[in-house]
Amino acid sequence: MTNLPEGHKAGPPVDVVIMAAGMGTRMKSRLPKVLHRLAGRPLLDHVLDTAAQLEARHAVVVVGHGAAQVEAACADSGSTLDLRFVRQEPQLGTGHAVQQALPLLPDDGIVVVLSGDVPLTRADTLRSVVRACAGERVALLTIELANPTGYGRVIRAEETVRAIVEQKDATAAERAIREVYTGIMAAPARQLKSWVGRLDNHNAQREYYLTDVVRLAVADGVPVVAHRIDDALQVAGVNSPLQLAELERALQRQQVRALMEQGVRLADPARFDLRGTLTCGQDVEIDVNCVFEGRVTLGDRVRIGPNCVIANADIAADAVVRAFTHVEGADRSAQDRVAVGTGALVGPFARLRAGAHLEAEVHVGNFVEVKNSTLARGAKANHLAYLGDASVGERVNYGAGSITANYDGVNKHRTVIEHDVRVGSNCVLVAPVTIGAGGTIGGGSTITRDTPPGALSVARGRQVSIADWQRPEKQK
Ligand code: UD1
Ligand code: MG
Repeated sequence: MTNLPEGHKAGPPVDVVIMAAGMGTRMKSRLPKVLHRLAGRPLLDHVLDTAAQLEARHAVVVVGHGAAQVEAACADSGSTLDLRFVRQEPQLGTGHAVQQALPLLPDDGIVVVLSGDVPLTRADTLRSVVRACAGERVALLTIELANPTGYGRVIRAEETVRAIVEQKDATAAERAIREVYTGIMAAPARQLKSWVGRLDNHNAQREYYLTDVVRLAVADGVPVVAHRIDDALQVAGVNSPLQLAELERALQRQQVRALMEQGVRLADPARFDLRGTLTCGQDVEIDVNCVFEGRVTLGDRVRIGPNCVIANADIAADAVVRAFTHVEGADRSAQDRVAVGTGALVGPFARLRAGAHLEAEVHVGNFVEVKNSTLARGAKANHLAYLGDASVGERVNYGAGSITANYDGVNKHRTVIEHDVRVGSNCVLVAPVTIGAGGTIGGGSTITRDTPPGALSVARGRQVSIADWQRPEKQK
């Protein structure tokens, strides 16, 4: 362990190299490995996040397999980093990968080497590695594993790190060493450039090993130190679908612990998925099998029933979301999020799409779809209905089977339903149209023109009853 004082800010600026050129053969996927998703985001996004927390000056991503796709995904990640890409073709090893990246980085910095498939390293761990490097040493992140098979072993003499030996090159005695290199190191840029330039591939895999830098540093009299951690999750890499799923569960357990420590009550911590951020007030209850995506906030005493999927939404205090509800707010803009007001009741089986804004005490029941619409305080749409591009006034009651026909095949138009309107069942409100305050729409009406306030509007074939109707009989 290194014992440098916490909070001591290392001098030289930090630059990051992220190796992401590998094929990821064991994923057996056409998608480049670093783009497989953990907690809803590409593995590489997690690494970019960590690099951003390090306040890295530059970040160079080494791409190869699926290069264009990986570069595009980085552009989509919204990362605040100064990102650059180098293509490594063919892939001749980790040393070769870093060699491609170094010409893009200034000499005066500390280079931190990360892998695109190791997503859960904490920024404070990396800061410790940077402090251990301090611009004048090589610092390795290491861990002791019960089963070190496959990893590079850390060779020490009298406690001092002398080399890293890859599994395939290791002697039986070296293979017995349980301290392994995690793939993460920090080194002074100027010297790293010289070492990387002197690497050879005279080894079992005929690869240029970044790990051979350690020997070269030792030969140059540059100290090599190891920052050893014991949290395996932080250095776990993803190589197979099974490992990805295991890491997903481990990450979910971590998130669950943090939420439950804040007092959030999850019916079953093993049946909960957060793919984004969830901010909860006090006494929030979440039943089993719920998935939260993007940025979601839940106010005090909010209750979420089982099997709900909730994305990009703000659900205010005392609201209840019942089973099987799908809230699918978008994160393009604040307007596209979903808002559920205080004490509102949503579901079961409701669907709130982007821009659904429900004020306090609104009820939206089963098989009701709401998109880009505002429902003012106390409005109700309890069964089988569609509200799209609509403004719904206070206390409106919107009947079963009624819809807004908001799309004429080319353009979308708005429907305005003023306060205290009652829309009967099975109505079609053909937008653009305004239903005047306090008005009533008779069941089965197709409304194509604005209706006056207070009026009963009926727009359907008038009922006829023909007395003593003789049903036709079959001709013989
Ligand atoms: C590497 C280390 C090993 C360490 C282990 C930790 C070397 C030589 N060995 O081994 O000591 O214990 O990580 O997980 O560094 N990559 C490229 N271009 C290449 C080769 C690899 O970009 O030419 C990328 C891969 O996509 C991956 C990362 O570098 O993200 C690590 O490569 P990998 O082949 O997994 O190295 P290991 O054999 O696991
Ligand atoms: Mg590996």
